[in-house]
Amino acid sequence: MKIAIGADHAGYALKEDLKYQIDRDLNATVVDVGTNSEESVDYPDFAEKVVRLVQKKEVDFGILICGTGIGMSIAANKFEGIRAAKCNSAVEATLTRQHNDANILCLASRTVDSELAMQMVKAFAMTDFSGEERHVRRLSKITGLECANHDEMRRKRMTP
Ligand code: RB5
Repeated sequence: MKIAIGADHAGYALKEDLKYQIDRDLNATVVDVGTNSEESVDYPDFAEKVVRLVQKKEVDFGILICGTGIGMSIAANKFEGIRAAKCNSAVEATLTRQHNDANILCLASRTVDSELAMQMVKAFAMTDFSGEERHVRRLSKITGLECANHDEMRRKRMTP
């Protein structure tokens, strides 16, 4: 298993901790896209780096960490094919894989400790999409919205 991980300055310490725990507890390779210190950076830059690896299927899934996990999830969900879920519990991490086929786990370094964060990573890593018809149908509606919105934005840009 291959996992991409990225964080801003607020998520840096938790990212380092999770890398250690993933190496210790999961048979997984971690691709770390940064940031590499607590010096202030902009979270969308690191969201994009993880997103690109997920889009190209170079990793099985991504982890993004910022202070709240919210900025990262907003940024990541702007990209085609990305289903980034900000989770607060292992149950949510399991359900978002089963129901939403989430491909990025977003975590809040300010409110989640490293033990809970690792429980969520394990739940996310060990759970597959259920493939049930109702979930497939709902996800294809989301893809439909993504395509319609993409077309709408392109038309607007092209309108003089
Ligand atoms: C950085 O101070 C903070 O805004 C960021 O980590 C995140 O919480 C944004 O959503």
